[in-house]
Parts: sequence; C-alpha cells; structure tokens
Amino acid sequence: MSEISISILDCNFNDLETEFEKINSTDASFVHLDIMDGIFVSRDTRNTFDLEKIKTLSNKKLDIHLMIDKPIKYLQRYIDLKPEYISVHLEKNSKLNECINKIQSNKIKAGVAINPDTDIKFLEPYIKQVDMILIMSVFPGEGGQKFLSSTFEKIKLLNQYKMKNNFKISVDGGVNNLNSEKLHSLYSDILVSGSFLVKNEDIKIAVKSLLNK
Ligand code: DX5
Ligand code: ZN
Repeated sequence: MSEISISILDCNFNDLETEFEKINSTDASFVHLDIMDGIFVSRDTRNTFDLEKIKTLSNKKLDIHLMIDKPIKYLQRYIDLKPEYISVHLEKNSKLNECINKIQSNKIKAGVAINPDTDIKFLEPYIKQVDMILIMSVFPGEGGQKFLSSTFEKIKLLNQYKMKNNFKISVDGGVNNLNSEKLHSLYSDILVSGSFLVKNEDIKIAVKSLLNK
C-alpha cells in the first residue's frame, strides 16, 4: 500500500492556515516541501514559505526535498525541523555520502533524489544505506508538469535492488489519478503529488483517489 505526500509548491502561501486545515483532513501521510535555491534549479523557494509555521500547522510528517547547490552546507537548518525525511539530489553533489551520514546521524531518514535523465546505476554506492530513493518523474524546478512515462521503466529497474535492500521508492512530479494505479502496481511506496491535490476542489477525495479508495 502506497502512502501519499502532498507537495505544497502550488498552494496559497498567503493563507497557510486554510491550506493546512484542508491538508490535515486528508489521508495523506506526509507534507512534501520543495526547497529550491535559484542555483540547482532556477526557481528560489527559500523565502516562499515559513517552514517553522508549517511545522506547527501540519499534523503530517514533513518530507523535505532539497533542490539546492552544496546541500551539506545548509542541512542543519532542515534537520532542526525534525522531519521524517530529507532528500538530497544525486546530481552535482560531491558530498552525497556526507549528506546521508549527517541526516541519519540526526535520526532522520535520508533520501536520494534522482533526475529523469540520470541512470540509476549511479545510485549503487548508496543503495544499501539510504532510506528512500526519490525518483523524479519530471525535471525538478516547477509543479504542474506532465508525468514522464519513462519513470515506469526506472521503477521496474529499481525494484530489482529493492529485493536485497531496505529503501522506499517515492515518485515525485505529475502524479495524478491517471498514473497512480500503475505506480501502485509497480510497488511505489510513496506518491508525491502537488498541483493535482492542492488545486482540486476536494483535496480529501483527491487523496483517496490516489490511494484507490
Ligand atoms: C518539482 C517538485 C515536485 C512537484 C510536485 O521540482 O520536486 O515535488 O512540485 O508537484 P506536481 O505534482 O504538481 O508535479
Ligand atoms: Zn519535490
């Protein structure tokens, strides 16, 4: 059974109270926070939302996705929020091992995010240690993009590593009720979904539709 992580990238940041009232009423397990620095990707969300406020408003565990350059330098800020997961990208990250160690030594689960055009063979050195692989099903940078169908093949390949290791597969980008069923059948553990959920007039029903309820 998959769990749902709601990406808030496309929600109304001027009224977080109302947004979280709705989010808290759903069957989702996590709130997915997309942190972008204007360098790793062109958008910069570092001052878009108030993380401390979100921490107090949310009754969901936090799932932090860092799309930032040199994440090792900035990890502490996110560790202090005591999220369930912190994911860092594999790409352009010479200190990935240090990042994973630092996250896990603070008793937080460590994820490695991988872009659509990165071969999963580059995950091999980390696969035994990580708690989650965050498969990007769009190129990072914006919400509301179309799900890339090449993701399905990637999940199948990753499932081969899963037999001997103990990580979760999370899928992020363009997830909606048209692709969720297939993602379930491929044993995706966590479905991250943003615009489909937060722009839906009934987020509770929309979450249920991703859970096949
Ligand atoms: C993309 C982000 C995703 C995205 C999800 O850079 O990492 O989390 O916002 O939003 P949707 O579901 O709208 O693609
Ligand atoms: Zn994300």
